[in-house]
Amino acid sequence: MFNFPNTRLRRRRSSKWVRNLTSESALSVNDLVFPLFVHDREETTELVSSLPGIKCYSIDGSVSIAQEAEDLGINAVAIFPVVDSKLKSENAEEAYNSDNLICKAIRAIKLKVPDIGIIADVALDPYTTHGHDGILKSNRIDVENDETVSILCKQALALAKAGCNIVASSDMMDGRVGRIRKALDDNNFQDVSILSYAAKYCSSFYAPFRQIVGSCVSSNSIDKSGYQMDYRNAREAICEIEMDLNEGADFIMIKPGMPYLDIIKIASNEFNFPIFAYQVSGEYAMIKAATNNGWLDYDKVIYESLVGFKRAGASAIFTYAALDVAKNLR
Ligand code: PBG
Repeated sequence: MFNFPNTRLRRRRSSKWVRNLTSESALSVNDLVFPLFVHDREETTELVSSLPGIKCYSIDGSVSIAQEAEDLGINAVAIFPVVDSKLKSENAEEAYNSDNLICKAIRAIKLKVPDIGIIADVALDPYTTHGHDGILKSNRIDVENDETVSILCKQALALAKAGCNIVASSDMMDGRVGRIRKALDDNNFQDVSILSYAAKYCSSFYAPFRQIVGSCVSSNSIDKSGYQMDYRNAREAICEIEMDLNEGADFIMIKPGMPYLDIIKIASNEFNFPIFAYQVSGEYAMIKAATNNGWLDYDKVIYESLVGFKRAGASAIFTYAALDVAKNLR
């Protein structure tokens, strides 16, 4: 038993050097993934006000920022397309056009910044007029699972052909990881990895992201509770993760991050596989709003929040603050 006064925990907090020697977790630039938005316009523009400081890049701009990320030591970027509404459709045909915006961006980045990892979402929401991650059943409410998975396979192949290193299934359809793995393998893409958003919760923290990709255009909100996970559940996340690993996922994602650190912890205790976590747009927006008001210190709060992910057991973290953090870590 540890008893006062023989044990005084403050002794190990008394100087910086001893705090450093006894620290249990650390954040390094190796842990960061930078999510970036790309559109088909010539110029790079500022984004919606709910994501202050975050830009939407032209294809050339995405190459420059990927280069900047690499120069800062960041290992991977996750690219999200902001698709022109004219190219959206009921059944998301543009998603598997091998010359679509994201494929062009992937090719451009691979050409100029060949050593940075490229991650791209497999999900239909940037391409559907209704904003859902899959195609709708005839009742126009529910998302059809198996046909959606067939389209996701075509999308994953288009991304792989363009040079994407990791396809990230963020759609939450059942059975998609196995079918995407098979489609990739059958087409000689054994080296393309799958990051499965295994435990992706139906969260209101995605609002700024949805505003950007335009997946809630018709209404102001969209209900994805028929496929994304119920946030009251933790044991179900284990089941999702186990199934995706059995189907061939290389890494798994927990998302959102900060309200779900318990899930990261459970998953990292349970599975000997790398756990990724996503500090999503709403989390970043909250921190930015408070810091822009002078209520919190941006650098300190972002750093503390990301160390929290590491302490919970995340190996890599998607964060819109990746470049800022990488600069400060130097
Ligand atoms: C699309 C997708 C979403 C996010 C990443 N991929 C939104 C959603 O599921 O509606 C959210 C990321 C963020 O909020 O930063 N499947």
